[in-house]
Amino acid sequence: MDRIRIVGGNELHGVIPISGAKNAALPLMIASLLTDDTLTLENVPHLADVEQLIRILGNHGADISVNGRRERQGESYARTIHFTSRNIVSTTAPYELVSKMRASFWVIGPLLAREGKARVSLPGGCAIGTRPVDLFIDGLTALGANIEIDGGYVNATAPAGGLAGGRYVFPKVSVGATHVLMMAATLANGTTVLGNAAREPEVVDLAKCLNAMGAKITGQGTSTITVEGVPSLSGARHRVLPDRIETGTYAMAVAMTGGDVILEDTDASLLETALEAIRRTGAEISETNSGIRIVRNGAGIKPVDIVTDPFPGFPTDLQAQFMGLMTKSSGVSHITETIFENRFMHVQELARLGAKISLSGQAAKVEGVSRLKGAPVMATDLRASVSLVIAGLAAEGETMVSRVYHLDRGFERLEEKLTRCGAHVERVSD
Ligand code: UD1
Repeated sequence: MDRIRIVGGNELHGVIPISGAKNAALPLMIASLLTDDTLTLENVPHLADVEQLIRILGNHGADISVNGRRERQGESYARTIHFTSRNIVSTTAPYELVSKMRASFWVIGPLLAREGKARVSLPGGCAIGTRPVDLFIDGLTALGANIEIDGGYVNATAPAGGLAGGRYVFPKVSVGATHVLMMAATLANGTTVLGNAAREPEVVDLAKCLNAMGAKITGQGTSTITVEGVPSLSGARHRVLPDRIETGTYAMAVAMTGGDVILEDTDASLLETALEAIRRTGAEISETNSGIRIVRNGAGIKPVDIVTDPFPGFPTDLQAQFMGLMTKSSGVSHITETIFENRFMHVQELARLGAKISLSGQAAKVEGVSRLKGAPVMATDLRASVSLVIAGLAAEGETMVSRVYHLDRGFERLEEKLTRCGAHVERVSD
């Protein structure tokens, strides 16, 4: 199994191209099941989660072709992928496939809307809390679906005439349930109003693509989304938006090591809250024509408190990385996680590098230390694993990160992007 070896101590200088967003690519790919026409997605990142979803969509009958010629973008290789689901050959998403990636559960929305039925295994995915599916079930029920849970599967059926427009107010903000209800409502009879919807940029990107396919969605990016159902959707061509989590991760890496890096092909407006927190640690951040420049020269890292929240708040997917940064701050910081329970598995691994962190429920107190020392550590989930990389870049000596497959789910060519900026990072295959 691959490991990542980091020798810390180098500043980062150079240009890092930002990939298309994993969390937008996945729902966009799933949206291709809503039409018998071809959906073409550009700027799709090459990640294990994308490959897994390609297998899942293929199981439902999608014909998928990846552009042989990769579109070269700076130093990143974005791909253009064509998805055509002329006929849905199976409305079952089996446990063996769904258990590997939680987002694959989302096929329930398009399958139910287009075929009137879906049988989807209860999901697996990152081990960060219980992550139930009650909001999906309640929301789809509000659109007229009949849902039963049996033997680890969710069996959903639409009434004879198809799903009906409805009104659903999410009791809790959920990105995935917003994606699914928005997709399901595009083909429902009548108008659907979703209240307390997720406002994440990836929801806006999905709505934009669905509208290009002929859907009638308004209000995306606000907490009330209205979807006027249409009889069918057509194909479209859509470019996946930049990955704001990857952007924030590399910005935090530079804030940690010091240096001067341009993050290319990204957009500061996707992560204002996180960038503001990084600025307060002492780094300078400015917008360039095609992205963001981040500089930290000489000055130390100031302690900053953060609380995770749905967009536009501080993203939970950057919480672990920010904690990595805070381990070397000049004081005490507090990090509160409000989205997921049990999303502090990186704490014990960061402690192996010499970090001083104490936990109390959903809050962590980080006492900055002047030096971290390299050690063998284990990746536990996607975002936690990259926090270990950030800490390793600033630790003295060698840090060896095992279970790298977590990183490969969400970070495209991480070691190459960092190495080009002067870091000492390499993949070691056993
Ligand atoms: C998505 C992102 C993930 C990010 C998360 C929060 C993708 C592929 N994944 O995950 O990276 O960390 O948003 O920004 O886009 N919940 C329920 N019942 C439900 C559904 C969710 O209680 O039916 C809870 C969850 O347990 C969690 C909270 O709602 O506590 C938010 O989860 P949600 O926004 O749904 O996360 P995902 O869409 O799975």
